[in-house]
Amino acid sequence: MNDETLTAATRAGEKAAAGMLGVRVRQLDPAALDVRVLTLAATDGSPLPRFTPGAHIDVHLPSGIVRQYSLCGEVSDSSQYTIAVKLEESSRGGSRYVHDALREGDLLRISAPRNNFPLRAGAGRHLLLAAGIGITPLLAMARQLVATQEDFHLHYFARSYAHATFADLLGAPFFRDLTTLHLSLDAEATGLQLGRILADGSDRCDLYICGPRPFIEAARGVAHTQGWPEDNIYVEHFGALPVSTVAAGAFTVRLARTGRSVDVGPSETIVAALAKEGVGIPTSCESGICGTCITGVLDGVPDHRDDVLSASDRTSYRHVVPCVSRSKTPVLVLDL
Ligand code: FES
Repeated sequence: MNDETLTAATRAGEKAAAGMLGVRVRQLDPAALDVRVLTLAATDGSPLPRFTPGAHIDVHLPSGIVRQYSLCGEVSDSSQYTIAVKLEESSRGGSRYVHDALREGDLLRISAPRNNFPLRAGAGRHLLLAAGIGITPLLAMARQLVATQEDFHLHYFARSYAHATFADLLGAPFFRDLTTLHLSLDAEATGLQLGRILADGSDRCDLYICGPRPFIEAARGVAHTQGWPEDNIYVEHFGALPVSTVAAGAFTVRLARTGRSVDVGPSETIVAALAKEGVGIPTSCESGICGTCITGVLDGVPDHRDDVLSASDRTSYRHVVPCVSRSKTPVLVLDL
C-alpha cells in the first residue's frame, strides 16, 4: 500500500466513523456447507477504512436488521472487505436474508470496523483455537501472523471437511504447516484434543478462542485446568445470550446528567426501559457481544451479562453493557 492509498484509507475511516458506509456486494461465493463469503467494495470505488485482525463490521440489511460479522480478508487490502455468513438454523432474518435473497451487485450499508478482539503485540507465540464459523476473526489473525512471520498455530474444529469454512485456503502451502483441522469430533473427543493442544502452552504464548459458546467454555475450562493465566486468554463469542440470562430482579437506573430515575423491570433490559422513557442508547447486536452500547457507570455495581468487557473492565465497575447486563445494587447511576 503506498502513502496515497494510506491517506485515502484514513480519509475513508474518518468518513465511516461519522456514519455509515455504502458498499456493493462484489462477489458471493460458497465457502463451506451453509456458509457464503461476501466480498464488499465501496460503492464510489474509494478505499475502505483500514482494520486490524479481529475487527468486525455491522452490516445493515435492507429489512432493517443489523448483524455483526468479522472481517476475514487481508488487512492490507483496502479495496474490499471479506466476511463469511453462516446460515443459522434459528435465523431471525439476518443470515437467512444473506443466503436466500442477497445477490451480487446489491447495495448494503456497513459501519466502520471496530475491534473488541485485537491481536496483542509482544507474545512469543500465538495459539489460535477456532470452531465452526468462529474461524473468521482467527483467519484474519493468521493472515497477519504469516505476513509478519510470527510464531503461531491455528487449530480449527469443524463437523466435517465440507463444514470447514475456508478449508481449501487453510490447506494452501503457506498455511498448511501452521494449521491443523480437527474434524467430526464429539464433545468428549474435542475435550481430549483440547487437553493435548493446551498442554503445550508456555508463559509467553497467547491463546485466542472463537466459536460457539460450548466450544469456548470447553476450551477455557481446559486452559484453566492446564494453568493458563487468564491474562493470556482472549475470547470472542458468536451468537446471542440465552434470554433467561438477561432477565433478573427489578432495579432503578439514575441518569446522572438529568437526575431522572427509570425503573427496569425483571424482564426488560436497561436499553428497553430507557427507550420507553424516550432515552436512546445506540445499539447494534443487542446481545452483549459488539460493544456498541457500552455506558459509563458512576455509582452502583453492575451485574455483567455481556461477552465484550475485559476482565479489568468488569472488576472496575465503571462500565456496563445495558443491552444485556443488570444491576447488583438497587440503583445504578449511569453517565447519561
Ligand atoms: S448492542 Fe451490542 S453489546 Fe449492546
